[in-house]
Amino acid sequence: MAIIRQFADVRSITPIKDALQSAAPIDSVRVQGWVRTRRDSKDFSFIELNDGSSLRNLQIIARDMLPNYSAVQRLSTGASISVSGALVPSQGKGQKWELVADNVEIVGPADDSYPLQKKGHTPEFLREVAHLRPRSNLFSSVFRVRSRLAFAVHQFFYERGFVYVHTPIITGSDCEGAGELFRVTTLDAENVPRTAKGEIDYAKDFFARPTYLTVSGQLEAEAFALALSKVYTFGPTFRAENSNTSRHASEFWMIEPEMAFCDLKGNMDLAEEFVKYLIADARAHCPDEMELFGKFVDKELLARLDFVVDRPFQRITYAEAVELLKKSGEKFEFPIDYGLNLQSEHERWLTEKHFQCPVTVFNYPKQIKPFYMRVNDDGKTVTAMDLLVPGIGEIVGGSQREERLDVLEENMRRHNMDPADYKWYLDLRRYGTVPHSGFGLGFERMLMFVTGVPNIRDVIPFARTPGSAEF
Ligand code: 4AD
Ligand code: MG
Repeated sequence: MAIIRQFADVRSITPIKDALQSAAPIDSVRVQGWVRTRRDSKDFSFIELNDGSSLRNLQIIARDMLPNYSAVQRLSTGASISVSGALVPSQGKGQKWELVADNVEIVGPADDSYPLQKKGHTPEFLREVAHLRPRSNLFSSVFRVRSRLAFAVHQFFYERGFVYVHTPIITGSDCEGAGELFRVTTLDAENVPRTAKGEIDYAKDFFARPTYLTVSGQLEAEAFALALSKVYTFGPTFRAENSNTSRHASEFWMIEPEMAFCDLKGNMDLAEEFVKYLIADARAHCPDEMELFGKFVDKELLARLDFVVDRPFQRITYAEAVELLKKSGEKFEFPIDYGLNLQSEHERWLTEKHFQCPVTVFNYPKQIKPFYMRVNDDGKTVTAMDLLVPGIGEIVGGSQREERLDVLEENMRRHNMDPADYKWYLDLRRYGTVPHSGFGLGFERMLMFVTGVPNIRDVIPFARTPGSAEF
C-alpha cells in the first residue's frame, strides 16, 4: 500500500534537474532515483542520486537520526530510493543545493553484483549490459540528446510547413533495389507451400504476396508529396546488409523529406540547412551533454561542430570528386575510377583531408544509383546527392526523382524491374506529375556526428547488427 501511495502522483516528485536549478531553498521536496555512490561521514551519509533528468546528481544528506539509518548505510550503487526533505544551500563545492533528508525510502536494493560500479567502463563492456547502460553518464547523455534531436526534427519540418507522414513498415517494394530485404512471412519455414511449377506459393502467404520490412519510406512519401507538397517521414528502416562496420545497423531510423516542385539544388540546400539546424539545436539545448562528449569522447568535437554550423558546405560533382581522389597520391585500399562507388575511405579523404568540411557530392553515374533518380541531360548521370561529413562519411543520400513516365519505365527495365509491379508508383507520373526531390538522413549517423561517439551501436538503445539481436 505504501508504494501505491507514494507513486500515485508523479507531479509531486521534483526532477533532480529542476531541484538543482531551484531559485530558492525549498522546505519540502521529494526526489526519486538511483544511487550513484554513497559515502559515510561521522554522523551522516552522503548519497549521490541520479534520476536521468540530467547528467547531474543531487547530493542527499542522510543523518544518523533517520529511523532506518542502518539500512541507508547499506545502500549501494544501483539501488533505487525515494527521498523527501529540505533543499538547502550546499556546503560542498560544485553544487548549489543539496537535500537534507527527513525520509529515505529504499524502493529497490541492488547488491555488489550490479555491473555499473563507480570505475569507468568501456563502451564495449557497456554494450553487453545494454539494459543497464542508460544509467551511465555517457549513455544517459547520448539518449537525452537522441530524444532532443528527435524533437528538433519535428520542429524543423513543422516550422517549414511540412506534413509528417507515417509510411508503412511492411512493404512489397525494394526501394533501393539492393536486395537487402528482411522478408515478412507467416509461411511455415519447415513446410513451404509450392506452386505446380515448384516455386514458393506466396498466394498462400499472409498478404498473398511477398512482403518485407521497409528499407525506406521514400516511394510512399513521394505519393504524399504529390498531394500535400511538402512531407517527411521519420521512422525505423531495416536492411539485411551483411556489413559489420561501426556505421551500419540492420535496424536504424531515417528521416525522409520529400518535396514537390523542388529540384536537386533545393534538395541540397534543405539537407545542409537541416544538418546545421540539428547541430545548433544540440549545442543550444544539451550543453552539459555536449560538454561531456567534448571532454571524454572527442576533444575536437565542439570546435568541429561550431565550424560546421558556421560555414557553407562544399559541393562538387561525382566526376570532380573522382578526379581529386585519383590525383590525391593517396594509397586507398579500394580502387577509385569513374563509375565505381565511393568507399568510406574515399569519402573520408574528401571531407577530412581535402576539404576539411562537409561535402555534398552530386550527379553520380546512373549505373551505381537506384532506378528512381532523375536522368540528367547528358544521359549518363543522375541527379543523386550524398552529403558526406568528417569522421563518418555519408549521412544523407537523396536525389531529384524521375518525373517523366517513359524515362522512369526505361530506368526500371535497366534495373531488371518490371514496371507492371509498380503501377501505383507510375500513376504518380501519369496523373499530374511534377519535378520533385527528397533525401534520407540516417538518424544514428547524425547522432554519431553530433556526439562524437564512434560506433553506431552506442547511439541506438538496443542495436541490431548481423549476428546480434539480444535484448
Ligand atoms: O542512401 P540511402 O540508402 O537512401 C535511401 O534510402 C533513400 N531512399 C533516401 C531518400 O532519398 N528518401 O540511405 C539514406 C541514409 C544514408 O545516407 C545513411 O545516413 C543512412 O540512411 N543509412 C544507414 N544508417 C545506418 N545503418 C545502415 N545500414 C544505413 N544505411 C543507410
Ligand atoms: Mg546512400
